Amino acid sequence: MAKPRRNRTSKNRPHPGQRSAPGAGQAPVEMARPGTREPVFCPHFGPCGGCQHLDMHYDAEVARKARALEEMVRAEPGLKDARVLEPLAAAEPLFYRIALKVPFGTSQLGPTCGFFRPGTHSIVDLRACAIQHPLLTEILLRARSLSAELRVPIYQEYRHSGLLRHLLGRVAPGTGQALVGLVVRKGGAPPIRRLAQALFEEFRPRGLIGVVENVNPERTNLVAGERSKRLCGTPILVEEQDGLRFRSSITSFVQVNAAQAAALFAEVLRQLGDLAGRHVCDLYSGFGPIALRLARAGALVSAIERNREAVRDGAAAADENGLRERMRFLAADALAGLRRAASGGIDALVVDPPRRGLQEPLIDLICDLPLHRMVYVSCNPETHLRDLALLARAFDVVELRPVDLFPRTAHLEVVTLLERR
Ligand SMILES: C[S@@+](CC[C@H](N)C(=O)[O-])C[C@H]1O[C@@H](n2cnc3c(N)ncnc32)[C@H](O)[C@@H]1O
Repeated sequence: MAKPRRNRTSKNRPHPGQRSAPGAGQAPVEMARPGTREPVFCPHFGPCGGCQHLDMHYDAEVARKARALEEMVRAEPGLKDARVLEPLAAAEPLFYRIALKVPFGTSQLGPTCGFFRPGTHSIVDLRACAIQHPLLTEILLRARSLSAELRVPIYQEYRHSGLLRHLLGRVAPGTGQALVGLVVRKGGAPPIRRLAQALFEEFRPRGLIGVVENVNPERTNLVAGERSKRLCGTPILVEEQDGLRFRSSITSFVQVNAAQAAALFAEVLRQLGDLAGRHVCDLYSGFGPIALRLARAGALVSAIERNREAVRDGAAAADENGLRERMRFLAADALAGLRRAASGGIDALVVDPPRRGLQEPLIDLICDLPLHRMVYVSCNPETHLRDLALLARAFDVVELRPVDLFPRTAHLEVVTLLERR
């Protein structure tokens, strides 16, 4: 969508007296007060691929993203009757990211960590971040300085040597818990154990409940590997949101903006309408934040997800929330899982696929099922509109709701209601 622009205007330079950006191990510099909608100065803006719109007023950013979506919809002949609703903007456009996935590298000065320059694997060494939850930024910067102190071998991508590849982190604003994952090339190494223990001891008083080791031995762009093992504390994060309790593991998907995700899920329920006694399939369910809400609203829910840890955590949360009778979690690929769920008859479907969207065989199956209503949640408007145009052969695309789940970046979430024609 919008092109990144630099934000070094006199308006948003650090003011006299503002602390300079910290080096490794220091607390992150506070770049703007929470709630700020004005342009924000960040020392990394431009080269860092994390944000694209820090240099705009937040209201202008939301309007620009919504307008771009409207133009895309109007350019698609199959969607001429679809309504594009007002965007749901965030009340807090800064420091909202509750999940972190950051690569480690090295420079002449020691370990580095931060986001890649767009289109490269060159790390912009992080000193501060305006969108990440401050506790996660602090843990990350401390992990970098501890890696130097404890002489942790950092993974060298070109040689496929060293150990520490990525740091994963997540926080649960509802319970105050935090969980860290260290992605390593080889498991069980003493320097990684020492790093985990030092982080755990230092951040336990601030809510860190555990540190997990995830082993990724492959030469690959995929961040996490198949095997995870607890190194300290407990490996499952508990979150409370909207009167429900959720459980998640470090490698399962989590929506990065808790407040906006709650607004998104409320929109899914609004679009589906009355759910009492209906059988609803939640495809690509993750650990169940949508599925649990559907069950609480009275639906009988089949939740389908291929990540086994997420399925296990979702089933445990169904028990914990007293919703077991109305829910079943299936560990399956989307196509096979939907076939299974549909064999018992389903009334409505929710899909929330990854950025690549839906595969054509799945779209064919969805069009053939006797479904009245479907809600499609997407984090990629391009693949979303491509799929809506295909689904339009069997469904009316009624309305699209933009939700700004990723303030200060070019990304936009969309929730769309489809009804059988
Ligand atoms: C965008 S996330 C949505 C998760 C969940 N709805 C939420 O809001 O937290 C997509 C999920 O689909 C899962 N997934 C990706 N490809 C899949 C496939 N082919 N079959 C089943 N699940 C898949 C991922 O593991 C991830 O949990």
